[in-house]
Amino acid sequence: MNMAVAKTRSQGLNLDIRNPVAAEVECATPLYYTEQGACYCEDARDLLKQVRSESVSLVVTSPPYPLVFKKEYGNVDAKEYVDWLTGFVPEIRRVLKPDGSFVLNVGGVWTKGAPIRSLYHYELALRISKQLPLAQEFFWYNSAKMPAPAEWVNVRRIRVKDAVEFIWWFGKGENPKADNRRVLHDYSPDMRRLVARGIRETIRPSGHNITKKFALDRGGSIPSNLIQAGNTDATSDYFKECKAKGLKPHPARFPKALPEFFIKFTTDTRDIVLDPFAGSNTTGWVAQLLKRRWIAIELDPDYAAASSVRFPATAVYH
Ligand SMILES: C[S@@+](CC[C@H](N)C(=O)[O-])C[C@H]1O[C@@H](n2cnc3c(N)ncnc32)[C@H](O)[C@@H]1O
Repeated sequence: MNMAVAKTRSQGLNLDIRNPVAAEVECATPLYYTEQGACYCEDARDLLKQVRSESVSLVVTSPPYPLVFKKEYGNVDAKEYVDWLTGFVPEIRRVLKPDGSFVLNVGGVWTKGAPIRSLYHYELALRISKQLPLAQEFFWYNSAKMPAPAEWVNVRRIRVKDAVEFIWWFGKGENPKADNRRVLHDYSPDMRRLVARGIRETIRPSGHNITKKFALDRGGSIPSNLIQAGNTDATSDYFKECKAKGLKPHPARFPKALPEFFIKFTTDTRDIVLDPFAGSNTTGWVAQLLKRRWIAIELDPDYAAASSVRFPATAVYH
């Protein structure tokens, strides 16, 4: 960890904050904590064992992807990936409340040397679903994704740009806590007009019975399972702070919109949100903004230390 950064940033802060998740993670010492959550620089395999059973409402995470080309933060080989990741599931299951959720973002992979897709993410979902039922699958559409693999997409032009990642939403049981009224989208202009004018009751050729209820104002439209968000946040405060302090920003952050959607959708204020592969701690930061408690676990000391720049006013360091 970058002690110099931690020391400088703790000066002048109110150190009279108690670690708000100390009762849930009794033995471990956090790298830093705020009035709402704590970041642990540990292997998630070990730290999860110290988290109290049935204390967490949502585990939301994006683990290292099984890329064919090793990324700097240590991807495991695609073939071992499913075994490796499912190895974390029994502990995740144990720490979740009975109505808790596990939300897992993983990217697609191509078979090495061939224009053929790996089906590992389906194997992964099947394996996990034996322990945690799949509530629903979501897709993250990132239009800014670079075309890859270059050989098939840019050079031979026999495949198209892969712009969607997978988000598997598992429940601990069949009925994880969730309320789509907390994640409504703004009505489209057409729908707003219908709400303002009302509609004529009719039966569509498709057989759908359109009653006046269709145009009732319910506060917004129900979102779909497609989340659209870019992850090119080179203008974010995190990125700017890292640059200013000479810290290396995490290279594979997910966009705020991902944890934000699931935290709002599946948790209440003060519930605990946990990210076992926290990276730059986007999850803890969003949980903090949404007034949830949070536990972040990150193995790499530099990434964990740099993530503290997200909490300039409140973080306390060890
Ligand atoms: C894809 S990144 C997560 C990025 C994060 N969602 C963000 O927005 O910054 C995955 C992270 O998992 C960490 N990691 C890998 N194995 C781990 C383990 N066993 N325990 C804890 N963290 C681990 C890596 O160091 C890496 O930072």
